[in-house]
Amino acid sequence: MADLFSGLSEDSVYPEHLGPGITLLHGFAKEISTELLIAIEHIAQSSPFRHLTTPGGFKMSVSTTSCGALGWYSDQFGYRYVTCDPSTKRPWPAMPDVFWQLANTAASAAGFANFAPDACLINRYVQGTKMSLHQDKNERDFSAPIVSVSLGVPAIFMFGGDQRSDPVSHLQLVHGDVLVWGGPARLRFHGVMPLSSGSVADQGSERINLTFRLAG
Ligand code: SIN
Ligand code: FE2
Repeated sequence: MADLFSGLSEDSVYPEHLGPGITLLHGFAKEISTELLIAIEHIAQSSPFRHLTTPGGFKMSVSTTSCGALGWYSDQFGYRYVTCDPSTKRPWPAMPDVFWQLANTAASAAGFANFAPDACLINRYVQGTKMSLHQDKNERDFSAPIVSVSLGVPAIFMFGGDQRSDPVSHLQLVHGDVLVWGGPARLRFHGVMPLSSGSVADQGSERINLTFRLAG
């Protein structure tokens, strides 16, 4: 398995430090992207993508599912992690080994050794889907980083500060990119601009994002 991720020496894969605790691993997941997309399809057959509702009653524009011991969930009762998928009443699908290895290796490459994610949120974006600025703060312990994998059409990611009103920088995330933030950056606000219509010939017109966390 380690060989799959030994690509850090390849030209297409390089770590870019974007600030304290933030690293963009360009193309880190590209080589295994087909395997990842097949696994995502399997997961979605057991626990389908759905549009969650925020505690305030708004339907999210992104559609989501999860895998791993814990799945992130939102409804009128709040944001939280749950062990079963409320729509199937069954446990979330197991986290495929290839997911766990990818997240663990990416975290190490970004300086966060021994990352052991127990939750993987899978977000699906189509044209116009966006994600408003937010912090990832439903996890029990903020010492572990967030590992975020981008697949499919490019998106513009927004990185803010620790306050919602802080200035936001924009960066493009393309197919295979892995963004890791943790330590001093763990609670930075972030979001995704509305997905544009651009489609990548062999990746359809969607964007899939995998967000790995240590939640429980
Ligand atoms: C998220 O913050 O949950 C998603 C980020 C992304 O889609 O890149
Ligand atoms: Fe997030």
